Amino acid sequence: MRKIIFGNWKMNPLSLSEALKIAKATDFKNVVICPPFPFLIPVKNHLRKAGLGAQDIFWGGLPTGGGAYTGEVSGVMLKKSGASFVIIGHSERRRVLGETDEIINKKIKVALAAGLRVVLCIGEPAEVRKKGETAAKIFVKSQLTKDLKNILGRRVRAQNLIVAYEPVWAISTSRDPKLTETPEMIVQMIRFIKNLLGSKFKVQGSRILYGGSVTAENIERIIKHKEIDGALVGGASLKPVEFKKIIQIAKKNG
Ligand code: PGA
Repeated sequence: MRKIIFGNWKMNPLSLSEALKIAKATDFKNVVICPPFPFLIPVKNHLRKAGLGAQDIFWGGLPTGGGAYTGEVSGVMLKKSGASFVIIGHSERRRVLGETDEIINKKIKVALAAGLRVVLCIGEPAEVRKKGETAAKIFVKSQLTKDLKNILGRRVRAQNLIVAYEPVWAISTSRDPKLTETPEMIVQMIRFIKNLLGSKFKVQGSRILYGGSVTAENIERIIKHKEIDGALVGGASLKPVEFKKIIQIAKKNG
């Protein structure tokens, strides 16, 4: 299985011309670009090799994809805009917008029903990691259990569920200077998540990514481990030269 690299642009860049410039420069196979909603269609129109992902989805609405929900975007709309993937449960949304595991669970259900492949983000905050590895695992298990409630089993194909392990304290915008991520720590947690998905949720073979301050400088140390199936890259995905390096290193280690 090839390693896959996601570029999560978050609320960037500020202009369409900039968005197209970055997209064209980073349009490679086994890459998925996740721009903000207004740029989805134009970016899709310029991509030849990379896939397209959205950064969020709304859980309500009619089966047809419409509804009276001001400001929201449905899975049907995302599909029609050319997205194949959707990021759900990012820690910024959990933290800043108060998204709960219950909301995330509903979003995963509608995304799968709309035929989107889900990138579910999970990961412990700094105060939990400071208590140790076991506390972090308990936290991650609890998130997975709630987020995937009544979802998994024979109905979900492994390829439609990707999990991104993103410790909140390792993400560039919410870093905790007292903690340092190590490849061993990441591998441990990713093994744990894979085992859990297999034993508890009966889904074998889902890709598990790592995310949190991934750069061209540190990617090799992380991605060379067979357990790590790819990366979810934030800040560095907006810098074409650096993102291209990340993609090349992932390919070399794939
Ligand atoms: P970062 O973001 O690479 O800038 O740390 C990752 C993410 O938030 O998904």
